Amino acid sequence: MRAELIRIEDPLKEKEKMELASRIIRCGGTVIFPTETVYGLGANGLDPEAAYNIYQAKGRPSDNPLILHIADMEMLGLVARNLGEKALKLAEVFWPGPLTMVFDKQDIVPAETTGGLSTVAVRMPGNEVARELIRLSDTPIAAPSANISGRPSITMWEDAVEEMGERVDAILLSEPSEVGLESTIVDMTEDIPVILRPGKIGLSELEAVVGPVRVDKAVLGQGDAPKAPGMKYTHYSPNASVYVIKGEGMVERILEEYQKYREEDPVIFAMEKHRQHYEGLKLYSLGATSLEAAKVLFSYLRKADREGHGIVLMENVGEDEVGLAVMNRAEKAAGGKLIYANSKGKMHKRNGVNRI
Ligand code: TXA
Ligand code: MG
Repeated sequence: MRAELIRIEDPLKEKEKMELASRIIRCGGTVIFPTETVYGLGANGLDPEAAYNIYQAKGRPSDNPLILHIADMEMLGLVARNLGEKALKLAEVFWPGPLTMVFDKQDIVPAETTGGLSTVAVRMPGNEVARELIRLSDTPIAAPSANISGRPSITMWEDAVEEMGERVDAILLSEPSEVGLESTIVDMTEDIPVILRPGKIGLSELEAVVGPVRVDKAVLGQGDAPKAPGMKYTHYSPNASVYVIKGEGMVERILEEYQKYREEDPVIFAMEKHRQHYEGLKLYSLGATSLEAAKVLFSYLRKADREGHGIVLMENVGEDEVGLAVMNRAEKAAGGKLIYANSKGKMHKRNGVNRI
């Protein structure tokens, strides 16, 4: 184990431990830290070499830009320009919290952090440990999700230690992530803000604050090159094959697929209200609401691998805004293996993605 493991209960009281972590950041090292969305793999966002260390640790393509995490509005001015009134309103309502905004970057932000783009993504996290770490490090912290590139994001320190223990300088051991899905990303460089990645904060919440907001076509599966470069890569993939099942007759179809794949030891990710339909079968409960499902999805994908399941059969968790964000991640994990329950198993292609 190369990483220093630092347990944090209360970031404001445990000054020495927080100092140690911030010293590693100031010296150009890498620290995995909790946020309310998912755990982040952080380094000094204004230091090109530190940013390089992040790409190395994750095995991430270097054209995929990082999010800068800030502790206060002063840091926002340091890294971003042409902020505009709408962004300030969104910041006032949703920061600190699970919202990332994209702005024109200031010169101080190195090209290594932004993957060569002239824009920069910025978030003020709600998690106290995260904000205290940024404050003590006295620099914006660049942090992608803490997983190896292409794997499911990490929401619990145990998964961080298992996957990244040999790859980073320190890991802060803290609470599981409250939201469980990465932040909503909104591009603020256009007159009408554009959602580049869906998350807990949905379209209607954003529109209630700033009026009309668009959703990037790539998010809707309409084939444009995504404006958030990271959205084009294979994502969230466990070793198990994931199938997402939607539509009328969903439960019956899952039962059929379960029998079909029996030899590969399938597990069903199901809403709690459907538990009784799957009696005697292997099941992880997604809870009662899409919010509860969001919180457990990534850790379940990892658990399925740990327990040796070859197949995951995942229910649709709902069409509300958080539900759509959850299904956006699930469908990426499935790599296009989306089954419409009433489609009688025929494969057809839409938008270049195989649908069964
Ligand atoms: O909740 C989150 O956002 C977590 C936590 C750690 O804060 N971070 C996270 O980072 O999800 P990452 O690197 O896994 O995803 C960042 C996404 C990528 O899809 C990236 O392409 C996009 O943000 N992105 C970053 N900078 C961008 C920019 N200037 N313009 C457009 N997209 C950008
Ligand atoms: Mg990620």
